[in-house]
Amino acid sequence: MRLPAQVKMVEVGPRDGLQNEPKPVAADVRIELIERLADAGLTAIEAGSFVSAKWVPQMAGTDKVLAGLRPRPGVSYSVLTPNMRGLEGALAAGASEVAVFAAASETFSRRNINCSIEESLSRFAEVARAARAKNVRVRGYVSCVLGCPYEGEVAAEAVARVAGSLLEMGCYEISLGDTIGVGTPAKAQAMIDKVAASVPIERLAVHFHDTYGQALANVLAAMTKGVASVDSAVAGLGGCPYAAGASGNVASEDVLYMLDGLRIRTGVDLHKLAEAGRFISEALGREPASKVARVLAAKRRKNAP
Ligand code: HMG
Ligand code: MG
Repeated sequence: MRLPAQVKMVEVGPRDGLQNEPKPVAADVRIELIERLADAGLTAIEAGSFVSAKWVPQMAGTDKVLAGLRPRPGVSYSVLTPNMRGLEGALAAGASEVAVFAAASETFSRRNINCSIEESLSRFAEVARAARAKNVRVRGYVSCVLGCPYEGEVAAEAVARVAGSLLEMGCYEISLGDTIGVGTPAKAQAMIDKVAASVPIERLAVHFHDTYGQALANVLAAMTKGVASVDSAVAGLGGCPYAAGASGNVASEDVLYMLDGLRIRTGVDLHKLAEAGRFISEALGREPASKVARVLAAKRRKNAP
């Protein structure tokens, strides 16, 4: 099996994880989480979103989060920006990287950002142009790449089309999101093959939610195709406990344990990462969803004096 020698771990817990937690988390806790993640060696961390607080109240205060972070050379704190209003907020707060987020499913696009795919792409092109004029890097997302909660099956051609548009507007990387975690490895590989015909593989990242427990297998399957950028959330954050079966992103600790075992370089320290996970899990009053984090915590308790 051919695998990349090095993988960039993109930590999305402070955004994708916390946006799905039922209780909003205070800015100072979000800041401490992100600092701990950077201490663990993560260099790409999604810090929040500049979206409507009516739609996603959990991400309110992202400006305070960015203001409270210690600048670190080589570490990028990215924020989601759905429109020019979001970009203006992000720029005013000093963001050096933003992300735009499209979908491969028409219904999901309307439910998530209240416009069609086409409309969203023209908004994002404007956002990307304005961001790049200020030397701010732009990452792109495609949601529902392996299925949609409203439409079911999603054609890989639709994913490739949206990913190609994001590349064309200047996104340096396009993250393929299995938003509802329904994908399985062979399906993920077939989708990546289709997308790689319009977007070079080194510009692709994968973003798996773990709803059906397939995320880690899907990450491995994507890496065999040459994908070397992987999104994950510390402690497997996310997945609202009030929504039946909802699940967070694949846990960063689980991804890192697998990458370490495969001798793939990441620059991230597993124990420090798990400490960051413990910190936020305690703040939320629950156990981490990561199996690796649970084992490490049990071992720690056993060895405690
Ligand atoms: P809209 O209602 O169509 O927008 O929402 P609007 O332009 O008509 O404005 C409505 C109100 O929102 C106005 O305020 C605007 O000022 C305000 P009001 O006059 O009613 O008081 N507004 C904003 N406020 C703050 N920041 C902004 C902003 N824009 C407008 N940027 C909008 C359109 C896109 C704003 C809305 O639908 C929205 O905020 N959606 C956010 C959705 C979201 O964050 N979803 C989660 C992230 S995507 C995801 O998780 C998937 C991913 O992880 C990948 C995967 O898993 O597949 C990335
Ligand atoms: Mg997501």
